[in-house]
Amino acid sequence: MRARITILPGDGIGPEVTAEAVRVLQTVAAIHGYRFEFEEHAIGGVAIKSSGSPLPRTTLDAALASDAVLLGAVGSPEFDRVPPNQRPEAGLLLLRSALGGYANLRPAIAYSSIAACSPVRTEVACGADILIVRELLGGLYFGEPRGIDSDVATNTMRYSVEEIERVARVAFEAARKRRGKVTSVDKANVLETSQLWRQTVIRVSQDYPDVTLEHLYVDACAMHLIANPRRFDVLLTENLFGDILSDEAAVITGSLGMLASASIGGEVGLYEPVHGSAPDIVGQNAANPCGAIASVAMMLRYSFGLEQDASDIELAIQDVLEAGYRTPDIAEGTGGYVVTTSEFGELICQAVTEIADMRHAYHAV
Ligand code: IPM
Ligand code: MG
Repeated sequence: MRARITILPGDGIGPEVTAEAVRVLQTVAAIHGYRFEFEEHAIGGVAIKSSGSPLPRTTLDAALASDAVLLGAVGSPEFDRVPPNQRPEAGLLLLRSALGGYANLRPAIAYSSIAACSPVRTEVACGADILIVRELLGGLYFGEPRGIDSDVATNTMRYSVEEIERVARVAFEAARKRRGKVTSVDKANVLETSQLWRQTVIRVSQDYPDVTLEHLYVDACAMHLIANPRRFDVLLTENLFGDILSDEAAVITGSLGMLASASIGGEVGLYEPVHGSAPDIVGQNAANPCGAIASVAMMLRYSFGLEQDASDIELAIQDVLEAGYRTPDIAEGTGGYVVTTSEFGELICQAVTEIADMRHAYHAV
């Protein structure tokens, strides 16, 4: 197994969390004799400062030429007054569309070991295991026309049948391997794009008679996510609704720092934690690397077909949490030991090694 992986640490805590995720990949590579080559490039605010563009050509070319891309975070308060197309975030949006991954998978799992961190009551949140499938390349993020014309601003929500269909298929396929339920989220009582969304999802569902389909309006969904998160299996929705609902789903898990994502369906898979650049804790070695580490687990699964290694990393995260280690964001009220970002990364590497050793020993007898 050989792979070229582009690392885009980006802004804020991005470099701190990607460093730990890379260490975990190196650990997996050392155990199994894989050859991963890492190449680091600039994106976002750091790229604007070093080269004037949030997505320099060299970064884009390297990403397109690699087998998978890991991104840390983009965004910085110093660009708050800059127009959208010159902000750090523009680099990420350009990268997403260039790599072509239209289905953004965001699993939200409420681990019992850190249930106390969630403001949602443990008996409500605990055991929730939701896969958000967010359409990533359409809707208001990319629709034209857009812009500000003196005192009027315009954005366009636009969806084609083809864009809806391809992401819906990803959701139904995923549901088949899980608990067999898709909740499609729209605003079909108000928006034409949502009416087309709903019709198309219903049509696609006919190819998946073994999967149960339900529809929720986005406002009702926002409520049900908090009131009864365990009713969800796969949650399928358009770009902006998915952006908002995935942050909300993070509340159930205890921290936004826990969430990973994979953008699949394009030429090159893009993997990024859901959290942002967190300027308030930069440089303190206090960021939660779980989101980035779980993102590389998804990379192993979706880009390289290494399912066993992916689930080993996921199990390692669970083990380390169960052993009581926590970064500050997941420490409150859980009675664990607070560790730094790098200590947490090291603990995951140790756990991954132990899990692999145990399997090896098991197969040897
Ligand atoms: C996310 C982020 C991005 C988005 C930003 C940084 C452009 O919020 O990945 O959820 O809105 O998609
Ligand atoms: Mg977001």
